[in-house]
Amino acid sequence: MGKEQVEQLNRECSGKPPEAVLGRIAQFFGAGKVAFSTSLGAEDQVIADLIHREGLAIPLFTLDTGRLPQETYDLLAETRRRYGLAIEVLFPETRSVERMVSESGPNLFYESVEKRRECCRVRKVEPLKRRLSTLDAWICGLRREQSVTRTGVDVVEWDDVFGLVKVNPLVDVNEAWVWEYIRTHDVPFNRLHERGYPSIGCAPCSRAVEPGEDIRAGRWWWELAEHRECGLHRHNQ
Ligand code: ADX
Ligand code: SF4
Repeated sequence: MGKEQVEQLNRECSGKPPEAVLGRIAQFFGAGKVAFSTSLGAEDQVIADLIHREGLAIPLFTLDTGRLPQETYDLLAETRRRYGLAIEVLFPETRSVERMVSESGPNLFYESVEKRRECCRVRKVEPLKRRLSTLDAWICGLRREQSVTRTGVDVVEWDDVFGLVKVNPLVDVNEAWVWEYIRTHDVPFNRLHERGYPSIGCAPCSRAVEPGEDIRAGRWWWELAEHRECGLHRHNQ
């Protein structure tokens, strides 16, 4: 797909409500060529609810790093039950995890940014790459106000890292909108959000934040803010 076509689609979708963006994207790419990558975070639960509500032919997949919190597995089970949705679960390659953990230990991510990125690469990025190689577009729950690394995100953009179109239907909404939607539609959400976690990834790399603190302050908190992306989303890096 050419740069101009991506820009055209971006213009068409900019400022539209998330359900209209999802509908247009499902129609444009067609079943089998677009999928939604869900971490089961608050934003992603909203997108899953919209896909279900609108009856869109967009499959869901999630990356199970092997280090997710129990609360995330509980939510995966609840979400499957609630929507009757099939959620494809992708695992890292066994031999790569075995090699990495045998060589560098189970908690290598605390040792350096390089080791943390290696762990994210093996556990998330490589499995994601495998799945994305079958698609023309992927859908994510990024919002601009989430982080200093995400201010330049567009609703439809070319993903240079993985070489396909990336769609962020919630790019313009704020946190209050997300929670209002969750309450109004009784969407299942991760119980860790109630315990002070605004952003949830792997258990050893996520923690609660103080009220008023940055929403991503609990992710890889031992690193500088500008390093806090795992390789799934590399805006402004
Ligand atoms: S991360 O890069 O820091 O981990 P974040 O948790 O903010 O990302 O999630 C941003 C978006 O990335 C999510 O809305 C989702 O689309 C995708 N994503 C993140 N983690 C996963 C995961 N484990 N499985 C599938 N998609 C994910
Ligand atoms: Fe590894 Fe932490 Fe990245 Fe999860 S978030 S893949 S545990 S470094």
